[in-house]
Amino acid sequence: MVSAELFRQVPLFAGLEDEDLESLISIATRRKYPKDGVIFFEHDLGDALFMILSGRIKVTILSDDGREIILAMLSDGDFFGEMSLLDNEPRSATAIALQETEMVVLHQRDFLSIVEKRPRVLINLLSVLSSRLRKANQQIGNLALHDVYGRVARILLEMASEDGTRQADGRVSFRRPTHQEIANMIGATRETVSRMISDLNRQGYIEISGKNVIIQAALAKEFART
Ligand code: CMP
Repeated sequence: MVSAELFRQVPLFAGLEDEDLESLISIATRRKYPKDGVIFFEHDLGDALFMILSGRIKVTILSDDGREIILAMLSDGDFFGEMSLLDNEPRSATAIALQETEMVVLHQRDFLSIVEKRPRVLINLLSVLSSRLRKANQQIGNLALHDVYGRVARILLEMASEDGTRQADGRVSFRRPTHQEIANMIGATRETVSRMISDLNRQGYIEISGKNVIIQAALAKEFART
């Protein structure tokens, strides 16, 4: 059962009236995926929107020889799967749970009906799509304009700005991604990323502290923007 409280956690539906929430509650379902569970594959037909209540997923494209490019990592409150519902094309990427992940699932016709009825939801949706396009533009710039060292530095800055917590001393820390995850986000090998992380650490741009990375102010000064 999906409650109004759960829906309130999803920014896409911020600003909805109780009456709308009630009707969403009666039609949405809750689904749990285990770590590494595939939610859907690229090229599948899409008929549902997914909203993450808790957990983390990756949006990824796989090449024929098994190489992976991670387009995005999404977590609590994020939604995905809207593109196929809006343009009626197959899924543009594969979605895989990175840890046990609980989601609310909304069927295409119910999603489209709420979007048509409530301009607020449409604006929330467009706002997220605009941010994703901005981020994709930055990623294209990062891939095209920088060497692997610069790419690693910039992807760490991006993660810090999205998921980071400011410490008492002003530095920002966030949960450390695996070197393979970073490699798959910037089109490099895991070995190269490991070497670059060690270099950044040695040069005082980052500090590794248990499961976290701490970003030093010098990293932003040196590598901010493209
Ligand atoms: P859809 O094409 O239906 O299925 C894959 C989903 O991944 C897509 O909808 C979006 O929700 C999401 N997605 C695709 N590309 C990106 C991206 N660059 N950033 C964030 N999410 C994305």
